[in-house]
Formats: sequence, structure tokens, C-alpha cells
Amino acid sequence: MSEPAAAASGLWRPDGPSTIVRGDNLEVIAGLPSSAFQLIYLDPPFNTGRSQARQRTTAVRSEAGAGSVIGFKGRSYERIKGDILSYDDRFEDYWGFLEPRLIEAWRLLADTGTLYLHLDYRESHYAKVLLDALFGRESFLNEIVWAYDYGAKAKNRWPAKHDTILVYVKNPADYYFDSSAVDREPYMAPGLVTPEKAELGKLPTDVWWHTIVSPTGREKTGYPTQKPEGVLRRIVQASSREGDWVLDFFAGSGTTGAVAAALGRRFLLVDSSADAVAVMRARFSGQPDVLFAG
Ligand SMILES: C[S@@+](CC[C@H](N)C(=O)[O-])C[C@H]1O[C@@H](n2cnc3c(N)ncnc32)[C@H](O)[C@@H]1O
Repeated sequence: MSEPAAAASGLWRPDGPSTIVRGDNLEVIAGLPSSAFQLIYLDPPFNTGRSQARQRTTAVRSEAGAGSVIGFKGRSYERIKGDILSYDDRFEDYWGFLEPRLIEAWRLLADTGTLYLHLDYRESHYAKVLLDALFGRESFLNEIVWAYDYGAKAKNRWPAKHDTILVYVKNPADYYFDSSAVDREPYMAPGLVTPEKAELGKLPTDVWWHTIVSPTGREKTGYPTQKPEGVLRRIVQASSREGDWVLDFFAGSGTTGAVAAALGRRFLLVDSSADAVAVMRARFSGQPDVLFAG
């Protein structure tokens, strides 16, 4: 699909309203113009790679090998990817699904833009190595640990109660990051700092303690993998300005859009699931300006 194809098909325009598109994300994003988004947040489902493995096409592979990947470090990327895939078939399925979408994410980021990739302990280390090769190691900004404490706890090992969010910028020499815009949090030991500092709160670090979405709380949409608005809020505050475009093409219940709208950003959300789109219709029902397409 040519670059302006999505715009031409009427799905999304940079001068248009915040938009929610139902469709396979690779097809939708392939038609979006390059460098259009300041912030991309992705929370892919862990098992999608396995169930989607049969959909991996030669076209995607050859397109990646033939052109864009060369720009992302060419041979070293292919070698690293080959090394990783050679010892984990299951991961090949997952990466076969994710890789072309991450290549598109790189293309779609504005020069000052940032990608947040939300995974868990099972895949995050492979993804780190591969994103280092894809974006360039110097483009790695942070590994954010989102720690929570909820649900059953294993007795035969340390209960796994965190997710990992990998953060990469497109251009390490000129990216947007405003820590002063981020909500501060209470000191763990307020008695150790001055009353003024305790009152102001501290800047969050790369470890974020935050509850999951409460099963009875205001935020709850009923979507099973819904992420808390508080986690997205920090991301949107730090890595975008008011008016910027924010993209989430694994949108689910639309948390990224809800937070982006609350903070005065514009958003494009994509999800292939009818259930997700139904949840988003309900979630954005009070915002008549949001366009549903696809
Ligand atoms: C983990 S959920 C995202 C949850 C979201 N962050 C939230 O807060 O609600 C992943 C989403 O990706 C969607 N998805 C999976 N494969 C997709 C594809 N190929 N194209 C578009 N969406 C896809 C699923 O339908 C699911 O809603």
C-alpha cells in the first residue's frame, strides 16, 4: 500500500479527528504516512504470535529484508534475529507476528517520537535484544518495570507480579521527554526529606508501583487485558505534548485513547476485535468527535 493510502481511504487524516479503526493492524498502519506520530504505545497479546503464525507472509519478510530493515542496521539485525530464532521456535512465531509491526512503528514515529512496548517477563528480554538491533542500541531509553500485587501467588518460585515496558526513541540526539509534566508520587520515606520535598512528591523512577484496574472501580470496562490509566498517564505526559498524535494499534479497551483525550492529545486506535471496538464505543460515547472507521 502506498504511504498516503490510509489517508486516501479516509481512515485517518493528520488534520482530522481522533479515530478508532477496526481491522488488522498491519494492514491499517501500512497505509499511514511516515513520521506522523509523536508517541506509540503497544500492548500486544502474548499469545497472538502463536495463533497468528500461519498468517506470516513471504511478502512481509521479503519487504522487510529488501528495504526498510537495511536502514535499521541491516546485517547485524538479521544476524541477531537469526541467532535468537534458532533456539526458540515458539518465539519465532511470536516475533514473526510482531517484527513487521515494530518495523512499521519505527517508520510511523516522528523524529522526536518514542515507542513504548509493553510485554512481560517471558518475551521482554528477546524483544530488548531485537529492538536494540532494530532501532539501534543508542535509541534505548528505559526498561520500565510496572509492579503490581494482585491475584494468586506461586509457592514454588517468586510470584511474577510485574510487566516490562521497553522504551525506545527514534532519534537519540533529539527526542521529546518532559519529566516536569509527569505527576509526582509520594516519597516512600517522607521523613528522610524536607517537608517541602515531601509535599512536592518525587519524580517516578523506572519502577512503577501501580494497582491493576480495580474489578469494581470507575475505570473498569470489562475488557480482560485492560491496563490502568495511571500507567498510560505517565507515558503520555512525559513523551508527548498537547495536540500531538498518539498511536496504539493493539488498542483493546482504548486506555491509551482515554488518557490521550484527557490530556489534550489526539489519538488513533486500531484493534481487530469486534469486542474491543464495542467496548471502545461505550468508553468514548461521551466524546462525539471521535470517529469510528474500518
Ligand atoms: C493486550 S490487549 C490490549 C489492551 C489495552 N492496552 C487496554 O488497556 O485495554 C491486545 C489487543 O490487541 C488486539 N490485536 C491482536 N492482534 C491484532 C491484530 N493483528 N490487529 C489489530 N489488533 C490486534 C486484540 O484484539 C487485543 O484487543
